[in-house]
Amino acid sequence: MSEGLEGVIAARTILSHVDGQRGRLILRGRRLEDLAGQTDLEGIAALLWYGLGAGDPNPQTLRARFGRQRQSAFARLPGLLARVGPLQPMEALRFMVASLPDGDPCDDAPAQERVTAAIPVFLAGILRHATGEAPVAPDPALNQAADFLAMLGGKAASAAEIAALETYLVTVADHGLNASTFAARVIASTQAGTISAVTGALCALKGPLHGGAPGPVLDMFDAITESGDTKAWLEAAIDGGERLMGFGHRVYRVRDPRADVLKQVVVSLKDGDNRIAFAEAVEATALAVLAAKKPGRRLDTNVEFYTALALQALGIPRAAFTALFAMGRVVGWCAHIMEQERTGRLIRPSADYVGPEVSAA
Ligand code: SDX
Repeated sequence: MSEGLEGVIAARTILSHVDGQRGRLILRGRRLEDLAGQTDLEGIAALLWYGLGAGDPNPQTLRARFGRQRQSAFARLPGLLARVGPLQPMEALRFMVASLPDGDPCDDAPAQERVTAAIPVFLAGILRHATGEAPVAPDPALNQAADFLAMLGGKAASAAEIAALETYLVTVADHGLNASTFAARVIASTQAGTISAVTGALCALKGPLHGGAPGPVLDMFDAITESGDTKAWLEAAIDGGERLMGFGHRVYRVRDPRADVLKQVVVSLKDGDNRIAFAEAVEATALAVLAAKKPGRRLDTNVEFYTALALQALGIPRAAFTALFAMGRVVGWCAHIMEQERTGRLIRPSADYVGPEVSAA
């Protein structure tokens, strides 16, 4: 048995390849570096869902469809906001996504388009509700990133902010059989439906070992700043059995290629006032401490380390960082759900029973 299914090949996919030895991420035949900063969420969705072949829905078609779906989602918002109470952003988003029907008798749009378009509407509404502000209606003419920032801030975002968010969402859109995507495929393999599978994936993403890491990266920065001694703080954390958030990965044995893409996003924002120098110093010290304390285990920087600074620079509250991750990753989840429904079988592994033998009655 492989603990945590490490190294187990559980599916064949045309969607993404995570090359852990060489630190490369390939998305349907394209290198991440050739997509991030070159396309938006509509573009990566058209590629992953439909392949961008002749006659397939293109990014412009998806942009119009998402715009209409954001308006449909906005109509649901008042009733949903009245029931989220004190839930944290990811819990409130989980509640709202779970309220969508797998098959909508009133809307024949594909479920992947409905749920992908709904997430920015739900999240902007949740965050404004938390500060006592009324939701802002979507503008169907905008793309997902621009409209989310407008619905959140109540005004048009700058081109630099929109480009930064687009790059982030594309960078996190898909990443092989990570825990939340695998959860989505398991649920899709029972033919439960797209919304059910995305709801399960949202639940898996929430954990700090997976998508819940970016907020704690900022908490780590705050604690290090307060301690005044980066190396001592990091050594004490590891000696105390803690995991350094933003480091290590089940597959990458070298630097996560997404880390540098997101570092550039940080540099592009805030005119230099972006704590890059501080983060670089923490990163270098953390890598040295991990190498010393965990010899033989390649623990390098992962996607979450610079994600934390990028989302902070965009003015996103840290409690919502994981929900932003979901806004991008939902495209990958839906691509894998579609592939599983097209080509997969019911996912049902076995377990090695080590319980008590049957006792004589
Ligand atoms: C994501 O799978 C994906 O693709 C995920 C993701 C995606 O796009 O979907 O890339 C997104 O989830 C990135 C990871 C975000 N999480 C964090 O940054 C949290 C901190 N990282 C660790 O929790 C850890 O590195 C994991 C969970 C990411 C991976 O852990 P593994 O592969 O299960 O490794 P392990 O827990 O078996 O650890 C092996 C050893 C242990 O030491 P020993 O007990 O053998 O002495 O390495 C140590 C661990 O203690 N270790 C760390 C560490 N990560 C592993 N020690 C300190 N800090 C860390 N970050």
